[in-house]
Amino acid sequence: MAPLDDEPELRAGLARAGQSHLLRFWPQLEPAERAALAETLRALGAEELGAHCRRAAQTYAREQQEEEEAGGHPEGLAGRLQPVPPEFFGSVARSEPATLERWEEEGLRQISQGKVAVLLLAGGQGTRLGVPYPKGMYDVGLPSRKTLYQLQAERIRRVAQLAGEKFGTSCKVPWYIMTSEFTLGPTEAFFRDHDYFHLAKSDVVLFEQRMLPAVTFDGKAILDGKGKLAMAPDGNGGLYRALADNKILEDMERRGIRYIHVYCVDNILVKMADPVFVGFCVSKGADCGAKVVEKAYPTEPVGVVCSVDGVYQVVEYSEIPSEVAEMRNPDGRLTYSAGNICNHFFTLDFLQTIAEKFEPQLKSHLAIKKVPFVDEVGNRVNPLKPNGIKLEKFVFDVFQFSKNFVAFEVLREEEFSPLKNADPASKDTPTTARRSLLSQHYRWAQKAGARFMDSQGHPIPEIQSLSGDEEPPAVCEISPLVSYFGEDLEQYLNAKEVQSPLLLDESQAEALRQA
Ligand code: UD1
Repeated sequence: MAPLDDEPELRAGLARAGQSHLLRFWPQLEPAERAALAETLRALGAEELGAHCRRAAQTYAREQQEEEEAGGHPEGLAGRLQPVPPEFFGSVARSEPATLERWEEEGLRQISQGKVAVLLLAGGQGTRLGVPYPKGMYDVGLPSRKTLYQLQAERIRRVAQLAGEKFGTSCKVPWYIMTSEFTLGPTEAFFRDHDYFHLAKSDVVLFEQRMLPAVTFDGKAILDGKGKLAMAPDGNGGLYRALADNKILEDMERRGIRYIHVYCVDNILVKMADPVFVGFCVSKGADCGAKVVEKAYPTEPVGVVCSVDGVYQVVEYSEIPSEVAEMRNPDGRLTYSAGNICNHFFTLDFLQTIAEKFEPQLKSHLAIKKVPFVDEVGNRVNPLKPNGIKLEKFVFDVFQFSKNFVAFEVLREEEFSPLKNADPASKDTPTTARRSLLSQHYRWAQKAGARFMDSQGHPIPEIQSLSGDEEPPAVCEISPLVSYFGEDLEQYLNAKEVQSPLLLDESQAEALRQA
């Protein structure tokens, strides 16, 4: 294919691709703007750009037609779906404590041998939360004012320490972070400014996913400015191309990594490199696994892990027909209840096979959006109605290629409280995330034997079995550097009277231990 770095070739390539309108404002552009536009187009490639625009328009037309034919009732999906049978599920709630301990030990063993990495998907734009910076930099208002990134970094440090202590090794858990054009710069600067939260810089590997142009319903790439295409990240399933683009799998191989815990940025309760999950997947010989929680209500915006035509996959919340989402078993529970929390386990071998062989087969999902654009005379317009298509790949669409897929159900109040919306929305907000974490830490402290007092020294009445939705009676935040998942707290808290609010960081813990 011809390079697109000079004007005549640029024009010819775009004409063949049916995208000549992208140079409509060329005569008005400054040299630097021309160079930038030419560079974007060159990187995309005229042929690929044309193919992408055609695919977007065709996918849109096909889905419209299918919807019309089905009269709004996507036919047949209900008949093709099956819930994952309970016997194929690991479950925290249904397992004996000894079994959970065995899995945890196996996970810690793998971590202690340096075989486990974590990989964060952080290329999203966080449009629903509406902040102009990456979500990981968000501070939900904990007493410590720690951001999501800091909590995650400290959990990595602590889990590596736990594994190392248990097996007498010195080990690391490398942290791979997939960013996009929107999030790379600020994420990099944030980590630098915070000294990588005391992780070794070489163990925090940032890399970038690709961007794709937004397209009109009739297959034209949209101009966001006179010399700028409207672009969006290619979905969290862009991971697999990004792994290959950036030679990340080679880096993992060099470090001796065999298992990767992939997770999304916004779950304040995420267990980094969760030894129980890793140990469960390794014990089962799985190449691919998904953590789930029981879905709370039919319209909850979580994908559902199930099988479609006998193949395990996730049916995304934006794509599941409501009559399927609402189906219930005789006991009243949702039939499709395995809610995806975007925590996945992969072996390195599996990721290599995907990157080398199956990535091109991953489905492109359609998102219909309001995409700001410049009109024919160059005015920027914020459309009131959806006018554009974005194509995205989804990280879980590789499940179909797994030879041994497992699902693992965990407790929502311990492991899932995502930050999706701004306050004052009713769900998945900074307020609900903060409350979930503080309730969890209150439960841990209570279990460890703490007795909370108010500022006047009066005992605060306890609440037994506090749920994640309730405000705890006492404020208690425990640093991940002190306890990763509620472990080892008795030495600081058992039978101790502690004043609310309690911020149990390393120095406070030491003071309490000696008290
Ligand atoms: C995601 C899951 C959904 C699950 C829910 C749980 C996908 C496709 N959907 O939905 O099944 O129930 O989380 O909270 O996984 N991201 C990128 N690049 C992109 C787009 C997103 O890295 O191009 C990252 C985001 O930064 C985030 C994660 O992927 O960390 C999930 O993206 P988000 O848009 O928040 O997914 P949901 O729609 O909430």
